[in-house]
Amino acid sequence: MNETLVIGGTGAMGSAVVRRLLQASDGAVRVLTRDPQSAKALGLAEHGRGRISMVRGDVNEPGSLSVAVRGVAQVFCNTDFFSSMSAVGEYRQGLAALEAARGAGVDKFVWSSLDSAVALTHGRLPVPHYDGKAAVAAHIGLQRSEEMMQQETDGWYSEHVSVLTTAPYMENFQEQLAPQRGRMPDGRDGMTVAIPLGEGSSPLISLEDIAWFAVHMLKNWQSWGARDLAVVADSLTGQDIAAAFERVTGVPTAYVPVPLDALRASVPGVGHDFAAMFQFFQEHDLMGLDRDTALLRDMHPGLMTFEDWLRTTGVIVRPVESGST
Ligand SMILES: NC(=O)c1ccc[n+]([C@@H]2O[C@H](COP(=O)([O-])OP(=O)(O)OC[C@H]3O[C@@H](n4cnc5c(N)ncnc54)[C@H](OP(=O)(O)O)[C@@H]3O)[C@@H](O)[C@H]2O)c1
Repeated sequence: MNETLVIGGTGAMGSAVVRRLLQASDGAVRVLTRDPQSAKALGLAEHGRGRISMVRGDVNEPGSLSVAVRGVAQVFCNTDFFSSMSAVGEYRQGLAALEAARGAGVDKFVWSSLDSAVALTHGRLPVPHYDGKAAVAAHIGLQRSEEMMQQETDGWYSEHVSVLTTAPYMENFQEQLAPQRGRMPDGRDGMTVAIPLGEGSSPLISLEDIAWFAVHMLKNWQSWGARDLAVVADSLTGQDIAAAFERVTGVPTAYVPVPLDALRASVPGVGHDFAAMFQFFQEHDLMGLDRDTALLRDMHPGLMTFEDWLRTTGVIVRPVESGST
């Protein structure tokens, strides 16, 4: 019995974990999806050549989670804040997934988390799409405390759950944060990287490396000296990011700091959440304060810096916007 259920398995992070599971183990993989006939579900199933099965389910429906988890040995769970747009909603989804897995006697459960911005800033700077996941991690911690108090020798939350705290994907620089061809602020032709980072630094990691750590955790259960693991590969200022693009492409590249207010206004309904995350990065050195980078490189010497990743994947450049010179 070594089947793994991946909740969020058709998504960017989950599908990277599914692909890594196929590479690094010989077990079957079950993927929870709201629509097994979607193009992404069908494409992933085809990639699995018989080793991936799709199970219809919804993290808002606990009954479907109990069915999905039946018979699997391990679960990787990455819920999607943006499908509910609610920190409390995501917290409830996480608790439902954990309870379904506990009820089914799952041996290993990895909760994909993000840092608690609201706690790390002493309540000053909530970042809802971080804090919902982090609240689930805090719930896991509370259950471990209770198990310790009750002197349980095989407490489920202690011995069978691990938290993997991740960081922004490098792949965001192939999409919404991709550099743009055009005139730089100094008038020269080149590329611009527009990010709301001010003078701060963004923690970064590639999806391939998140998946590497997720599968390593499942295969080497709680072997890294703790139950949980917080990962990152790089931490770069806007200037550092532009310089990396310039070194890799040979094209002069300028960092253009985007005001937080502009981000807040540009994405109705969620811009304030994204802006809060960038403000958090401007004010809090996540990699320096909350990650053990020596341990991470020791565990995974192939962990890619942003520049390594750019050289591996290639650079995607957005064309000059019509109307700009
Ligand atoms: N972008 C980043 O840099 C970054 C970094 C770290 C963490 N994250 C977090 O990752 C999460 C998003 O994951 P992703 O990047 O993989 O996004 P994605 O590519 O948009 O995938 C979303 C996944 O969530 C699943 N899903 C959504 N609502 C669901 C529901 N109600 N029930 C069951 N499954 C549901 C989707 O499955 P179906 O559509 O097949 O049902 C899909 O597999 C967010 O919470 C985000 O904060 C993002």
